[in-house]
Amino acid sequence: MNAVLITGANRGIGLAFAQSYAKDGWRVFATCRTPAKAKELEKLAAGSGAKGQGVVSVHALDVADGTAIAALGKSLAAESIDVLLNNAGVYDPSPSFGRTDYDAWEQVFRVNTMAALRMAEAFVEQVARSQKKLMAGISSGMGSIADNGSGGYYAYRTSKSALQMVMRSLAMDLRGRGIIAVAMNPGWVKTDMGGPGGTLSADESARRMRAVFDKLTPNDSGKFWHHTGKEFPW
Ligand SMILES: NC(=O)c1ccc[n+]([C@@H]2O[C@H](COP(=O)([O-])OP(=O)(O)OC[C@H]3O[C@@H](n4cnc5c(N)ncnc54)[C@H](OP(=O)(O)O)[C@@H]3O)[C@@H](O)[C@H]2O)c1
Repeated sequence: MNAVLITGANRGIGLAFAQSYAKDGWRVFATCRTPAKAKELEKLAAGSGAKGQGVVSVHALDVADGTAIAALGKSLAAESIDVLLNNAGVYDPSPSFGRTDYDAWEQVFRVNTMAALRMAEAFVEQVARSQKKLMAGISSGMGSIADNGSGGYYAYRTSKSALQMVMRSLAMDLRGRGIIAVAMNPGWVKTDMGGPGGTLSADESARRMRAVFDKLTPNDSGKFWHHTGKEFPW
């Protein structure tokens, strides 16, 4: 049975990934900051394991907490994890020039950037022993330097550009272990972060990204992929 570990699995794109993988019979390690408040996830876990559904377990994880990431890695040390999905993210608390909140920027970096490397360090063995051996970072078109035609959003944009660099370096560093590492552009998605104007539902975005994952080969590692399956400019 294939297994996936998802960060920020309680709502938005992360929840859609969890539901989609569970429906397809995957073992789902769904992580979120506050399991007691994750009602949808609780429902998914409670109904999991029946009729071809994969087993879903819920694990508390604040990805800004390096100690908690290392501890979860240890508690799941014996598992095999095919897809390590760094999905948890925060948006820009102070997007305009002249109003930057530098302390908040540090927190955005912890969640959107540093967590992906910490997760890779904590779960490298579990991914390396799996069948698919994939680490994915959910980035954003706003992390593309080439695509930035509107400015602002310093914290969010830089955190996602840096996430892309993390995934690129992971691709180099872990190639010898057979691990594929990619950054993903999920599109503009109707979630709390994306707002109602998004052009894709969370289900559709997750479905499309899964279709991209399914086609990845070692030659595709270290790249930035759009949900349509095309490469996106850095
Ligand atoms: N929606 C879009 O249009 C869009 C576009 C491009 C990229 N993205 C990226 O896609 C990913 C998912 O976004 P979304 O649209 O689904 O956003 P969302 O609905 O706002 O969900 C964000 C998720 O991240 C979690 N999270 C935030 N800080 C965390 C922390 N310190 N530790 C653990 N989890 C934390 C949230 O958990 P809590 O409930 O505990 O806050 C929530 O589960 C993000 O990385 C985002 O940057 C989204």
